[in-house]
Amino acid sequence: MNIKNAAIAAGAVMGMPVFAAGAAELNLICSADVVICEKLVTEFEAGHPDINVNMVRLSSGEAYAKIRAEGRNPQTDLWWGGTGDPHLQAAHDELTAVYESPMLGELQDWAVEQADVSGHRTVGVYSGALGWGYNTQIFEQKGLEAPACWADLLNEGLKGEIQIADPNSSGTAYTTLATLVQLMGEDEAFEYLKGLNANVAQYTKSGSAPVKAAARGETGLGIVFMHDAVSQSVEGFPIAVVAPCEGTGYEVGSMSLIEGAQNPDEAKVFYDWVLTADAQNLMPEAGSFQIPSNKSAKVSDKVPDISQIKLIDYDFAEYGSADRRKELLARWDAEIGGRAAE
Ligand code: F6P
Repeated sequence: MNIKNAAIAAGAVMGMPVFAAGAAELNLICSADVVICEKLVTEFEAGHPDINVNMVRLSSGEAYAKIRAEGRNPQTDLWWGGTGDPHLQAAHDELTAVYESPMLGELQDWAVEQADVSGHRTVGVYSGALGWGYNTQIFEQKGLEAPACWADLLNEGLKGEIQIADPNSSGTAYTTLATLVQLMGEDEAFEYLKGLNANVAQYTKSGSAPVKAAARGETGLGIVFMHDAVSQSVEGFPIAVVAPCEGTGYEVGSMSLIEGAQNPDEAKVFYDWVLTADAQNLMPEAGSFQIPSNKSAKVSDKVPDISQIKLIDYDFAEYGSADRRKELLARWDAEIGGRAAE
């Protein structure tokens, strides 16, 4: 064993991250749950000791804003996860690079379609439907009826019991806004959101925070992706998971290489690896229950069964377009305007 290998072995024994001397760097934004973000980084580094990953977890809208702010001097190489709409907006703005991964043939049609509509500037990595999770103990104690439909969330009894994220920072909340507009029509959706606002205690920064708060009894109900509600019930919290009766939207969680990245080769190594079935099989182990995009990845029995959910025909091209996203967010700010708190 030479000196470098001895140092690596010593670090491994002490449980410290170990990198080969002169390891290449990869700057990653991760927009999914921090547990899977960290697991992916750990597993990737274990298999690629020559690449040191610097990861930051940001919500989807925040990630888009950071990449946009970095503009012609990108500090980020790769953006994994987060809802597809801001990835599509970044593609439209040419902030992300064209890349056709050799892994495309292994992916579900919806993941490849995301690549096709963006001119191969983004690709689908997972999918999941929107709904909510509510704390069954709180509902029982307060004698509240189980909410099955979007309309039920306007009940007066739910005053102060609902949390949802701010759609400027959160892809989950933007997906909710775009879903309601597609389900009801734009003016009706904003009327609905004004009614809902009366019941909302807090607009959070991160999309999954509302159901984490519900799990811990800090609020009654969180409007989130259903898989984020499942994660809490799998952890043993009294959370019931609901697919809204009127129908609901869904995300194609996405990944994009940054245009002008400083470490494009390392980014491509991660990009191709994270699309493998082996990498995607890590998701349920980390408590992430989205539908994987690799056709051969295992689908955990905890993943919400999409065939049982009434899905709308979500228009990703329109609601991921820069103009439409900006317009809807501006109207939300003007008419609803929550203050992100977490
Ligand atoms: O927690 C996981 C997750 O719901 C992903 O499925 C989704 O892409 C992401 O979080 C959205 O997070 P945010 O709403 O904070 O942008």
